[in-house]
Amino acid sequence: MNKKHNFSAGPCILPPEVLKKASESILNFNNDNLSLIEISHRSKPFVAVMDKAIELVKELLKVPKGYSVLFLQGGASLEFLMVPLNLMKEKGGKSAYTNTGAWAKKAIDEAKQLGETIVVGDSSDKNYNYIPKGYIIPEDVDYFHCTSNNTIFGTQMKDFPEVPSLMVCDMSSDIFSRKIDISKFDLIYAGAQKNMGPAGTTLVIVKDDILGKTGRNIPTMLNYNTHISKESMFNTPPVFAIYVSMLNLQWLKDHGGIEWIEDLNNQKAEMIYNEIDRNPLFKGVAEKEDRSNMNVTFTLTDPNKESLFNQMWENSGINGLKGHRSVGGYRASMYNALPLESVQALVNVMKNLENN
Ligand SMILES: Cc1ncc(COP(=O)(O)O)c(C=O)c1O
Repeated sequence: MNKKHNFSAGPCILPPEVLKKASESILNFNNDNLSLIEISHRSKPFVAVMDKAIELVKELLKVPKGYSVLFLQGGASLEFLMVPLNLMKEKGGKSAYTNTGAWAKKAIDEAKQLGETIVVGDSSDKNYNYIPKGYIIPEDVDYFHCTSNNTIFGTQMKDFPEVPSLMVCDMSSDIFSRKIDISKFDLIYAGAQKNMGPAGTTLVIVKDDILGKTGRNIPTMLNYNTHISKESMFNTPPVFAIYVSMLNLQWLKDHGGIEWIEDLNNQKAEMIYNEIDRNPLFKGVAEKEDRSNMNVTFTLTDPNKESLFNQMWENSGINGLKGHRSVGGYRASMYNALPLESVQALVNVMKNLENN
């Protein structure tokens, strides 16, 4: 299982033991001679899965009282719309965003459809290779929205600004990878398919008392209160994605939780960035202080080495290293389940390139 070093940007690597249990559940879940995907989502065994998944999110992230944890559908992309629908006032509504990459831009475009949306920090002038800082968020906005980790460009917010309004964050590509003080945020969302589980569900952590205050008529499925009142079972939930997420969060807890993974993720990042900075054949794309621990973007300094490098990493069992088309070069995505040995394998290839 997982014989390749999988550096895919998402969907991405999951722990082999999680994949094994997930595959067993398809044939025979809980030894009941039924498949997980053929039982009712309202049956006791599945309700127990949902409850456990929510409990693990709360425990791992130390979610304070007063927040709801939801498993929704539509990906992080639907949250781009649900956030302004649920938080921007109908009359005179206003929001502030940072534009730090393609996903942030999509979130901004949705918000613009519903009300005045200002961009307070913007790194598009340098193809998003840094995190804007020192920007001012006006007092009169309904909420501020940022993206904690920019998957495509390889930048990550190392700290978060003090905000005079509600604070919303797209944490799709670094949730569960490091300690986060949830109490600083009013709403966090994340597509599952990086550090949580397979594609198909979206995690939302929302402070209950911020909802229902916009004066808008919100369509039922797009209203967070609908999903809170029905405990993420207003309609049939994506049972498989939630089950595998639960297994993966249990895996994280069993190994030592967020503190353990943050330390491992720091080690992985240090290993590869050290090599990028040491080896004259490579150059990092993102500004050093804003480098992501999850997605490492880099290029070759000598384009003539490209086909040789590609051949070498492919021959070493490495998968998913090609950069996004809007950045070029390479992107090593190092999500939680990627072992240190895989990063070592890539670093070895980078070192060997110097001898060829
Ligand atoms: C930071 C970020 N936000 C949003 C998305 C979109 O997520 P989804 O495909 O779940 O809609 C992605 C996808 O990679 C992402 O990396």
